[in-house]
Amino acid sequence: PGLVSYDPGFTNTASTRSSVTFIDGEKGILEYRGYPIEQLAEHSNYLEVAYLLINGELPTKEQYDAWEHEITFHTFVHENIKSLMQGFRYDAHPMGMLLSGVGGLSTFYPEARNISDPEVRHLQIVRMIAKMPTLGAWAFRHAQGKPYVYPDNDLSYAENFLAMLFKMSEPKFEADPRLAKALEILFILHADHEQNASANAVRSVGSTQVDPYSSLSAGIAALYGPLHGGANEAVLRMLRRIGDVSNVPAFIEGVKAGDERLMGFGHRVYKNYDPRATIIKKACDDVFEVTGVNPLLKIAVELEKIALEDEYFVKRKLYPNVDFYSGLIYEALQFPPEMFTVLFAIPRTAGWLAQWVELVDDKEQKIARPKQIYTGGRQLTFTPREQRW
Ligand code: CMC
Repeated sequence: PGLVSYDPGFTNTASTRSSVTFIDGEKGILEYRGYPIEQLAEHSNYLEVAYLLINGELPTKEQYDAWEHEITFHTFVHENIKSLMQGFRYDAHPMGMLLSGVGGLSTFYPEARNISDPEVRHLQIVRMIAKMPTLGAWAFRHAQGKPYVYPDNDLSYAENFLAMLFKMSEPKFEADPRLAKALEILFILHADHEQNASANAVRSVGSTQVDPYSSLSAGIAALYGPLHGGANEAVLRMLRRIGDVSNVPAFIEGVKAGDERLMGFGHRVYKNYDPRATIIKKACDDVFEVTGVNPLLKIAVELEKIALEDEYFVKRKLYPNVDFYSGLIYEALQFPPEMFTVLFAIPRTAGWLAQWVELVDDKEQKIARPKQIYTGGRQLTFTPREQRW
C-alpha cells in the first residue's frame, strides 16, 4: 500500500492470470491451451482451435459437430447492419467498417448485457465467430463497389469467407482447397497471442461488464493501430521499395546504419525464430503453387538469408516474425493491403473471446483501473476569465 511502480506499456506487469496461451519467447514456443501451434496448424482447423481456446479442451465429435452447426447458422447479419455498412464512404477503411459493425451488433442483441448467464454468453460467442467473416467480406466488397454476397451455409468457415469475398455471378463458388487450407492455417496462427495490446483492450473494457460486442470492438480498434496489426503491410511496401534481389545487400547496410528497420523482423517477446513465421513460410509454397510465385518472395528469402548470418541481427536476436511472410500470401490471394488487418481480426476473435470468458469467470478480477504518477500542478488559484483575458 502506498507503493506505486511505474511501468508504462506494462512491460513488466502481469495484468491477469491466464490459462489460454503460453509463449516462451527465448525458445520460440507458442501453445494454445498447452497444445503446440505446429501441431494445431498441421492437424486441426480454425473452428476446432476456436473451440479449444474458448472452452479449454478439444471437442468430442458431438461437441464439434454441434459447434460447427451453430456457427454455420449464425453467419447472417441483420439487414440493418448491412445498411450501416453500405452507408460508409466508398473509400472507408475496412477496419473502421468492421469495428463499427461489431459495435453496432450490440444494439441488436440487448440480452448480451447479461454476461453472467453462461447460455447468453455462449450465444454471443457463436454469433461473433460466425458474423466476423461476413462483416469483413462486406467491408472488402464495399471498397470495390461490388454487391455484398450473403453467406453460403453449405461451405466450410474458410471457404464461405472466400466465397463472400470473391464470388462473382456463378451459382456456386468453389475455392481451391489449397487456398482454403492456407487460410485455415493463417487463421489458426493468428487466433491468440496472450496479452497483446488488443487482448488487453478487450479485457480492460470487458472489466466494466459491458456486453462482449462492445468489448471486442475495443480489441478491433487496438488492432487497427500500425504498431499492432499493420506490420505485414509495411513489409510489402519495403519489399516493393527494394525492388530487386541485387539491392538487398545495400538495403541491409542501411538498416545496420540505423536508416530504417527491417520490417517483419524482431519481436518484443520472441528472441528466437517466431514459430508462426516458420509455418507461414511453408504455407507460402502451397499458395504460390496455385497463384504463381509472388515475385517479392525472392527478395524476402534473400533478406532473411543475409540477416540471419549478419552479426548485427544475430547479436540483437532479430528473427523473422509472423508478419514477414503473411503479407506475401495475402497479396497472392488478391487482397489489397487495407484488408490485411481484417484478416488478422477475424481469427483473433476466438482469442479475444477466450480471454473475455476467462475475465468474466475470474472472481479475482476487478475493473481495470491503473494507477498514475501525477506530474501536473497543484492547488492553483483560478482567475476568472474577465481578469485573465
Ligand atoms: N530492424 C533493425 N533493427 C531492429 C529491428 C528491426 N526490425 N528490431 C529491433 N531492432 C534493433 C533496435 O534498433 C535495437 O538496437 P539497439 O540495441 O542497437 O538500439 C534492438 O534491435 C532492440 O530493439 P527494440 O526496439 O528495443 O525491441 P522491441 O522489443 O522494443 O521492439 C519490435 C520489437 C517488433 C517493435 C521491433 O523489433 C520492430 O520494430 N520490428 C519491425 C516491425 C515489425 O516487424 N513488427 C511486427 C511485430 S510481430 C506482430 C505481432 O506479434 O503482433
